[in-house]
Amino acid sequence: MADKSLLVRTLKGEAVERVPVWFMRQAGRFLPEYRELRANHRMLDLIRDPHLASQVTLQPLKRFNLDGAIIFADILNPLMTLGIELDFIEGEGPKIFNPLQKAEDVERLKAHDISELKYTAQAIELCVKVLGGTPVLGFSGAPFTLSAYMIEGGRLGDLQQTKHFMFSHPKAWDGLQQRLIALITDYALMQEKAGASAIQLFDSWAGYLARAEYESFVLPSLKKLISDLRRVLSVPLIYFSTGTAGMLDVFSGVEVDAISVDWRTSLRKARAELGSEVVLQGNLDPVILSGPPEYLARQTAQIVKEGKECGKYIFNLGHGILPNTPHSNVQLAIEVVLETGRY
Ligand code: CP3
Repeated sequence: MADKSLLVRTLKGEAVERVPVWFMRQAGRFLPEYRELRANHRMLDLIRDPHLASQVTLQPLKRFNLDGAIIFADILNPLMTLGIELDFIEGEGPKIFNPLQKAEDVERLKAHDISELKYTAQAIELCVKVLGGTPVLGFSGAPFTLSAYMIEGGRLGDLQQTKHFMFSHPKAWDGLQQRLIALITDYALMQEKAGASAIQLFDSWAGYLARAEYESFVLPSLKKLISDLRRVLSVPLIYFSTGTAGMLDVFSGVEVDAISVDWRTSLRKARAELGSEVVLQGNLDPVILSGPPEYLARQTAQIVKEGKECGKYIFNLGHGILPNTPHSNVQLAIEVVLETGRY
C-alpha cells in the first residue's frame, strides 16, 4: 500500500500532486512523549525493544501530518554485531569502549550475524501494520561515517584519528569499508523484507574531508555499496551528507535515487550540479525551524517554491531537528508545505 504513497512515488521519480514532507530526527528529543519514555529506559533498551521502538517511531505521526515515518534506531547500534561495544551516555552522546586504534584491530572485528538486529525488523513490521499506506523509512550509517565513529570512539571533532588511520593504513581502511559494506547490505535487506519503503544512508561527516580524500578513500566503497544494494534491494535509496556543498558534483556518479542536501547550498545549485534525474531532499536549516515563526514560514515557502521549480523534490531539513524546537514551528512548517507545495 505504501508503494502508492506520495513519498515513495516521488522517490521513484514519478510526477506527483504535492511536495512530500518528513523531518530527520522527527522521532526524538523534541517530543515530550519521547523524553518521558527516555526517562525510564536506556537509549539502547528503547532501540532493542520492538514495541517501544515502534511506539517512538509513531509518536511524531500522531501529532503531525507527515508523509513518512523513519524507524527509531541509531546508525551506531548495528556496529555491535561486529563486536563494537558502545553506549549512549547522558548529556554526552554515543561512546565506543573499544575503538579501532591499530590496523590489526580491523581483523579482530567479529563476523556479523544480522539476526542480532532483528529487533529493528520487528519494529518496522509493527509500524507498517499500524501505518498502512504511510511509508516507513529504514536507514543505515554510510561506511565512512560509521568508520569515523569506530576509530574516534565517540563524539566527533576534526576526525584527525580517522584521517590518519586512512592515510597510514590504506589496506586496513579498505578492509574496514568492505566489512561495513557487507553489514549495511544485509541490514538494509532485512529492513526492506520487514516492510521498509526506502533506505536512507547517513553520511553526516563526509563534509569533513577534502574532495581529494573523499574521492580516493570514500567514493569507491560508497559506489560498491550502492551497487551491492541495487543487486538485492528494490526500494529507493537516499544518500544524506552535510558540509558537502562544495563537492556535490562528485555525487553525480553515485547512483542513488535521492540526494539529501544541507542548507549550505541552494536547491537550484544542487539541481544544476546533480542533474535532472536524481530526486532532491532538503534543505531547511534546523536552526530556522527552531526560530521565529514568521521567518520560518517565509523561508519554508521559499524553499518549497525552489524545490517545485527544481522538480522531483522532498521537503526536509538539512540535518536533524534540534531538541528545543517548538512543536508549533514543526506544525507551521508542515502547513506551509501542504499549502504551497501543490504542483
Ligand atoms: O527520528 C529519527 O531520525 C530516527 C532515529 C535516529 C536516531 N539517530 C535516534 C537518536 C536516526 C536516523 C539517527 C541517526 C544518527 N545517529 C546519525 C546520522 C544523522 C545525524 O544526525 O547526523 C548520527 C551521526 C547518529 C549518532 C548519534 N546518536 C549521536 C551523535 C547522538 C548524540 C547526539 C544527539 O543528537 O543526541 C545520538 C543519540 C540519538 N540518536 C538520540 C536519538 C533520538 C538522542 C538520544 C537520547 O535520547 O539521549
